[in-house]
Amino acid sequence: MARKKTTGLQVYRRLISYSLYYWHYLAIAIVGMVISAITQPLFAWILGPLLDKAILHHDPEVIAWLPLGILAIFLLRGVAMFLSSYYMGLVGRIITKKLRNEVFTHMLYMPIRFFEKRTSGSLLAYINYYTEQIANTSVRGLTTLVQDSVTVIGLLALMFYQNWLLALSILIIFPIIGLIINFVSKRLRHLSHNEQDSVGDITHIASEMIHGYKTIRIFNGNDYESKRFDHANEKNMAFQMKRLITELLSTPIIQFIVAVALAMMIYIATLPETLETLSPGSFMSFIMSMIMLLPPIKSLTQLNAQLQGAIAAGESIFELLDSPTETDTGTKKIDNCQGQVSFTHVSFSYQGTNRQALNDINFVVQPKETIAIVGKSGSGKTTLVNLLPRFYDIQEGEITIDNICISDIQLYNLRKNIAYVGQDIVLFNDSIRNNIAYGDMKKLPLEKIKKAAHAAHALEFIEKLPDGFDTVIGDNGVLLSGGQKQRLSIARAILSPAPILILDEATSALDTESERHIQVALDELLKSRTTFVIAHRLSTIENADRIFVMEEGEIIEQGNHHDLLKLGGKYASLHKMQFNEVAQVKGL
Ligand SMILES: Nc1ncnc2c1ncn2[C@@H]1O[C@H](COP(=O)(O)OP(=O)(O)OP(=O)(O)O)[C@@H](O)[C@H]1O
Ligand SMILES: [Mg+2]
Repeated sequence: MARKKTTGLQVYRRLISYSLYYWHYLAIAIVGMVISAITQPLFAWILGPLLDKAILHHDPEVIAWLPLGILAIFLLRGVAMFLSSYYMGLVGRIITKKLRNEVFTHMLYMPIRFFEKRTSGSLLAYINYYTEQIANTSVRGLTTLVQDSVTVIGLLALMFYQNWLLALSILIIFPIIGLIINFVSKRLRHLSHNEQDSVGDITHIASEMIHGYKTIRIFNGNDYESKRFDHANEKNMAFQMKRLITELLSTPIIQFIVAVALAMMIYIATLPETLETLSPGSFMSFIMSMIMLLPPIKSLTQLNAQLQGAIAAGESIFELLDSPTETDTGTKKIDNCQGQVSFTHVSFSYQGTNRQALNDINFVVQPKETIAIVGKSGSGKTTLVNLLPRFYDIQEGEITIDNICISDIQLYNLRKNIAYVGQDIVLFNDSIRNNIAYGDMKKLPLEKIKKAAHAAHALEFIEKLPDGFDTVIGDNGVLLSGGQKQRLSIARAILSPAPILILDEATSALDTESERHIQVALDELLKSRTTFVIAHRLSTIENADRIFVMEEGEIIEQGNHHDLLKLGGKYASLHKMQFNEVAQVKGL
């Protein structure tokens, strides 16, 4: 994705705005952080009276309350740290959950083109990896930011209180540190983006291996795949190492600058003139504050690295969340769809190609008519039927259903009126029942589902399965045969009450006998719906009311089977070829 220029602060502010929704948890966490942070300067301060009053002057009152005071400080610190960590953790998990849900839901509404342009691995990374990174680092980041900043401010305040002139010298270094952090941040964010992209590559190659394991083995692609994976893995490691080096170099450099300032201060503090103005207790407390200043400054400098990772992930996620979903500006609804479909001068080319996949398509289909579409592979059959549910928007012409332009119809309503058996069968890792009665049909009674399964010639094999309709069929139905999968997806379409039915090579994986059985059931079904059937086996579409013959994105012939045979054109020669093949097979 080309990245828009956003500042880290904008992204972080937006991430924070998510947590502000849970401000009450955040408030408890921040109060906890502040309390635990304040205990540090408090501890440094207590050293003053410890040395001056308890040790040097044996003040009995101070000797009595000091040990109790120290216990109280640590008790307070323990409780405060528990509360702040718990509530920050909670807010972090809530943000991850919320972002994950938002990303998932947003993807559900993205245009088809969005999925075609990206690998599944990179899309999975948005849901798994980016959201997780945000939870981990932004929460830890905020804790460090609040807790350590308060500690640093508290310790500095104490130092100013003890000796302001001396304390002033440490302030000189802050602008220098700021400059270094600014430079390092930019580099870290850039590296984090690269690293996140490479995680997408790793997921992508791994998921291809998981889905394509049979093909990989048969064609001995093991070596190639493992090299490809190793390459992506190597790239990821290289980015990680670059990031590590940047982090590792920046922290000691900043710490060295701090150390120079501290050394300067220790030098000034131990000068006789300074010592005169400081009591031993104050001096001790001042030095302790300086020493205690180091760890929080260290975490604050490291914090930057963590935050840049979260900001890079946030940038990617917000860019996705801000990208437009499918255009759904239609306001009309078809209540009682009759199923009349018309294409007028429709031309279409896929985005990013300059070839017309469809060129000036014109036809009107009457309600309940059955249209068969035949033609060579790549001639545009699938493209034509995909325009109807608006998987793609056309560039020229008009498509209407019941004389309403499909772009004026609400997407949900439009798709509710269309049932679809695609060329690629999609099944879910769920029970057979839920696979047939999917989506809007979830609540239909089992009787109806059984009837649809029967019509799709699937009942016979479903009943032989151990759990019948409750059998879970695995990832995309891996536990079923190709033809069985196809019969389930046909059953799904048969169950749907939609008045328009699209069957794209719906029976291609079936044996002749099953196909004939389904044909009988389908013939019955087709009488009550407008149907588009795409088929390579011409024997299955002879009964269609009209046949469109496509070539190079155009309809070159149309008519019923007999008309087209009589015409003696493309259809007739296709038919002759297939008929000869069948005759040859029979002759054998
Ligand atoms: N998502 C896509 N992006 C870009 N081009 C595409 C896309 N889908 C298909 N095409 C191109 O559009 C043309 C028509 O493809 P289509 O899938 O409609 O053919 P088809 O007639 O259904 O073929 P088949 O019988 O093999 O299924 C082809 O040249 C194909 O390369
Ligand atoms: Mg096709």
